[in-house]
Order: sequence, then structure tokens, then C-alpha cells
Amino acid sequence: MEMIVKKEDVKTIKSDVLIYATTEEELKKVDTRFEKILINIVGSGDFTGEFNKVHMLYPKDMITSGRILLLGLGKQDELNLERIRRAFATAVQSLASINIKNIAVYYSKLKNNKMHESDIVTCALEGILLGNYRFSKYVTELRERIKIDLQKITIIEEEQSQVRLLQEVADKVKIICENVNFTRNLVNESGNITHPQMLEETAKKFAKEYGFKFKVLHEKELKELGMNLLLAVGKGSIYSSRLIILEFDNNKSSNEHVVLIGKGITFDTGGLNLKPSVGIVDMRSDMAGAATVLGMLKTASELKIKKNIAVLIPTCENMIGPNAYKPGDIIKSYSGKTVEVVDTDAEGRLILADAITYAVKHLKPTVVLDFATLTGSIMRTFGGFVTGLFSNNDSLAGKIFNAGENTYERVWRMPVYDEYKELMKSDVSDLKNISKEEYAGAITGAAFLEAFVDKIKWAHFDIGGSAWFDKQRFYVPKGGTGIGIRLFVELIKTL
Ligand code: BES
Ligand code: ZN
Ligand code: ZN
Repeated sequence: MEMIVKKEDVKTIKSDVLIYATTEEELKKVDTRFEKILINIVGSGDFTGEFNKVHMLYPKDMITSGRILLLGLGKQDELNLERIRRAFATAVQSLASINIKNIAVYYSKLKNNKMHESDIVTCALEGILLGNYRFSKYVTELRERIKIDLQKITIIEEEQSQVRLLQEVADKVKIICENVNFTRNLVNESGNITHPQMLEETAKKFAKEYGFKFKVLHEKELKELGMNLLLAVGKGSIYSSRLIILEFDNNKSSNEHVVLIGKGITFDTGGLNLKPSVGIVDMRSDMAGAATVLGMLKTASELKIKKNIAVLIPTCENMIGPNAYKPGDIIKSYSGKTVEVVDTDAEGRLILADAITYAVKHLKPTVVLDFATLTGSIMRTFGGFVTGLFSNNDSLAGKIFNAGENTYERVWRMPVYDEYKELMKSDVSDLKNISKEEYAGAITGAAFLEAFVDKIKWAHFDIGGSAWFDKQRFYVPKGGTGIGIRLFVELIKTL
């Protein structure tokens, strides 16, 4: 797909449709370039610029664009970047039934607002590229019709002096959004396709393509090292557990080392503590953390970010069967700490614990960030609108919070007080994987992880609610959301 920013007359631009975005105030002033076309519509009251409203025009006197899609941005003083994302998503979604390949985008004088123009372009394009996503691979009949086959987006810029800068911005947004959609695809993929072997092959393919260092530890190596938690969770599956390791060292002169860990449970039945029918169906998304960190590394490479980044993906299937691990099993972790498995459904923290220990022992991390669909508890807390954040470092948590606000991939920090750590102590071993207390599931999950981080700067993202939506919300589709990639791009600059 091509993305172009240029100075051109809106009347002569060549496109299948011109998205003309306007606030209520701007519409009332009637833009002279569109005087004839717009005066009538303003007079009719059919389109007032109300937020998120669209109206298609087929003007006679347009020279090259056959259609103008008026897009309402609402009241000037209520306009913000998130509203721009949402409105442009609505615009592109309203075009889904028409065969459109080529769109032009025009918005007048939004710059007068408090927003930077580079942010306006970013968010308009995010709305289009993220809002046009559908996981349509298996929808035989609808495949062609449920989204538009975008081949070209042209952004019309009025000032020649801005064009170069905005083109750079647009190129960056394209990379980021394609990776968000890559992550969504991987999460949405059918659970019989996405298994630990497949994640390994996917990672290996990227390593080759992008020049990442690649290593995978299989059963034999995991046994030798003593990564028994990771091994235990995978025992009920025909696919053995593995730890995938990717390294992208793009700043050899720096000692900084960011380690990203993603939970890679390719299916979570709950194990012998089997999940009920209602909750189990979406559990192919339990590898969303893994998909997210893969998407992050790909993005970092494509944007040529000057950082040293490693990705760790502990992956297995949490299945039942004669060989499955059992409630009550006591297992020695890679760190040496022993863990009582009270509930086989609290498996994510087990595999993450061994991966965190691997990072501590082998990768000299200056910061560890883990992404995991760790708990249903966080979903009940935030309802998917916010990611649960846990950290042992105030400055890091502050940076993550800001990156979340700037991208609207919002996070909210929760405390890991000593009382919660106490709850994770066991009578028969050093730790247990769930507390007997019914409440505070997300925090006690984080408290368990923290026992393995040592003194390293660490943050845990519980994406249990935010990685997967049961219904579409604006530019975020039903299913895998791809949350985290945009936040990461903001965050990594500050690490
Ligand atoms: N993968 C689930 C968490 C989850 C549930 C994410 C629903 C997204 C939607 C995790 O492995 C799990 O089962 N957690 C349990 C822990 C409990 C047994 C302490 C949970 O949160 O219910
Ligand atoms: Zn589980
Ligand atoms: Zn799980």
C-alpha cells in the first residue's frame, strides 16, 4: 500500500473517494474550494459536521474524485486526537461495501486547534488503517466485501513546507499499523494452526528476514537448565514446551538491554482445573502476549530503533491428558524457588516465572517488560478499556503511563504491596501459584511474578482484558486488538 502526502488542489486530486473531514464550525464557514458543493448541504441541514457522522456526495463538478465523503469531527473545542482516530475509522468502515482502492484525505484548518499537525495526520491514518482491519481469512463469501482493499492513501497538505516532514510521519504510521494488524492476525488465527511449533517457526522466519539472533530451547535443553515450570504446563500437550529467544542489538555501544517477555499459551483449557464452556472458546488468544512482543520487535526493526532489544517467548499448550500436570504438584522453578500448583489454570505466571529467570540469568537486562493475558480478574476490573500495569519502579511506571495516555492504549498502575506477596506463600513450598483468597486475582498474579524479578527494573502488563474484545469498538475490531504496539513505540524512546 502506498501512502503519499502532497500539496494538491482538492478539486483535481485523483481518488475513488475524497474524505473531507470538518468540524461543525469549519463547515459553517464554507470552504471556498467547495463552495458550490457545500453550500447546499449546509443549507439542507442533512450534514452538520456532527461528530462521527458521514455523508456521501456525488458532485457533478468534481474533476477527478467521483465521491466526497463528508466526515463530521464535531465541535472544535471537543475535538482531540482520539476523536480523530474514531472518526476516520467510521469513515473507512462506511466505505466497506464499495469497491474502493484509492482514497484521498482532506481536513481544513484543524491546525488552529491545540493539536500538532503531525499528530493529526498520525491519528487520521491510524483510524483508517486500524479501522479497516478485519480477520477475513476464513470468511469465504464475505472476504471481498467486509473491508476495503486499500492500495493508496493521499493526504492533502496545504503547506508545501510541511510535506516532507508529514511524509516521514505517514511512513512511520504505516509501519506501526501494519504491525498492529500483524499482531491481531496472529492472535485471531485459529487455535489448530497456532501451536508452540508454529510460534517457533514464525519467530524463526522473522529472525531470518530481519537478521535477529534466534535461539529456541526445546524439552531437552529446558530439562538440563531446570526450567521445570515451563515444562510442567506443557506436559498435557502433544507439542512440547519451548522457550523462543530473539535478539535485536541495534545499539552496540550501549549497555542498555530491554527484554520483552510474552506469554505464549497457544491454548488455555485451564488444565485439570478445566475452564467452563463459556470461557474456553476464546482461549486461543492466550498467546496474545507472545504475538505482541513479536510485533514490537518487528516494529523496532522496521523503524530502525537504536536500542538493544531481546524477546523471550515461553510457549506451550495448557491441555489435559494422562501426562498433564496436576493440582497439588510441587515443582522446582528455574530460579530454585519451589512452587505449589494450587490451580492448573493459573499457568501463565508459571511459564513467565521461568522466562523472567532466564532473562535475569542470561541476558543482563536493564529493564524487563512482560505482556500477558494473565488474569480474568483484570478484565473484571477494567472491562478491557485499560491494561493493568504493575511495576517495581516508579519512574518506569510513569513513562509507561505517559506512553499509554499519548497513544490511548491506556494503562493504570496497581499496587503490589507486601500483603499481596504474603498471600502467595505456601505451607509446603516457597510459593503457590494462586492465593486461597478469592479477590485481588490480578495483583496476586503480579505478586507471584515479582518474586522472580530480583532487583531488575520490571513492569508487567496484564492484557487479560485489553488484548481481546468481544465486540468492535471504533478502530479496534472484535477479537485480537493488537494493543501494546503503539504504546511500545512511544515508550522505547524514553527507556
Ligand atoms: N488466560 C487466563 C486469563 C484470562 C481469562 C485472560 C479470560 C483473558 C480472558 C489465565 O491463565 C487464567 O486462567 N487465569 C485465572 C487465574 C485463576 C485460576 C487464579 C483467572 O484469571 O481466572
Ligand atoms: Zn489459565
Ligand atoms: Zn492463561
